[in-house]
Amino acid sequence: MNARHAVHFAAVKAESARAVPSCADMPTNPAPPTAALAPALALQGVSYEYAPGIPALLEVHLEVPVGQSLALLGANGSGKSTLLKILAGLLMPTRGRMLAWGTPLDRRFWQDDARASAFRRRVGLLMQNSDAQLFCTTVWEEIAFGPAQLGLEGHALQARVQEALELLQIGPLAGRSPHRLSGGEKKKVALAAILALKPEILLLDEPSTGLDPRSQAWLAAFLSQLHAAGHTLVLASHDLDLVGKVCISGVILGEDHRVMASGSIPRLLGDSALLRQANLIA
Ligand SMILES: Nc1ncnc2c1ncn2[C@@H]1O[C@H](COP(=O)(O)OP(=O)(O)O)[C@@H](O)[C@H]1O
Ligand SMILES: [Mg+2]
Repeated sequence: MNARHAVHFAAVKAESARAVPSCADMPTNPAPPTAALAPALALQGVSYEYAPGIPALLEVHLEVPVGQSLALLGANGSGKSTLLKILAGLLMPTRGRMLAWGTPLDRRFWQDDARASAFRRRVGLLMQNSDAQLFCTTVWEEIAFGPAQLGLEGHALQARVQEALELLQIGPLAGRSPHRLSGGEKKKVALAAILALKPEILLLDEPSTGLDPRSQAWLAAFLSQLHAAGHTLVLASHDLDLVGKVCISGVILGEDHRVMASGSIPRLLGDSALLRQANLIA
């Protein structure tokens, strides 16, 4: 099952139970008094192993405040994609825990279809590999799939798809097969499909990969606009140019899969010894 299947599977299950909640309904219990101040996402001592004894992440502490634009920097293999999949709820930490808006996302949380579905609606993940995210026959269907699962139909669905097509400037691709598009076009379609669900948090894994220079400049401006419009962004990349244009703060993962530094983007990008140590520059 790929990420979008997982998202829609959860949505379908919740739909069939006629229990799709509003986003504000996510916690079953009354929100703790500090919920309004809680970070959008938090990791507390999170480690992850794909196989016993082979760590992909080690003891990561991370907070993503509401409205933040956070860069996740690190060399290939440091754990950026794994970290984003944990933040998206696609992987459960091997150790430690994750919280969303102050609510721990433990096994009980994921067993509650309504809460899991609400979380997945609020958090969208653009995967590193667009092919893992695209599965419909046309671009239009691809973008309509998620909103349709949430119950949109008729004019409301048409309008939602049209809005996403225009936002990403991909109207002319609407009738094309997603699998026959260029890498950059696929990325835009995948992003449109996610934005059509109107998530509050966007997790973006190497979004500039495969884009030509003009599309890269467009992407930086687009993501900055999303941030200015109130979206919380987490951007995993080793594209320092993109990160410098879009992100406010950052975390650097070392090749030992631990957080080696965090701080403001100007401070991190201005520290060439640190970037060299992290294998982000030669
Ligand atoms: N599906 C997987 N199975 C086993 N190991 C994996 C898998 N995905 C990633 N890894 C390993 O986990 C570590 C972190 O990978 P990843 O999160 O993809 O890093 P990055 O995104 O920073 O390049 C690497 O050592 C990688 O080889
Ligand atoms: Mg990666």
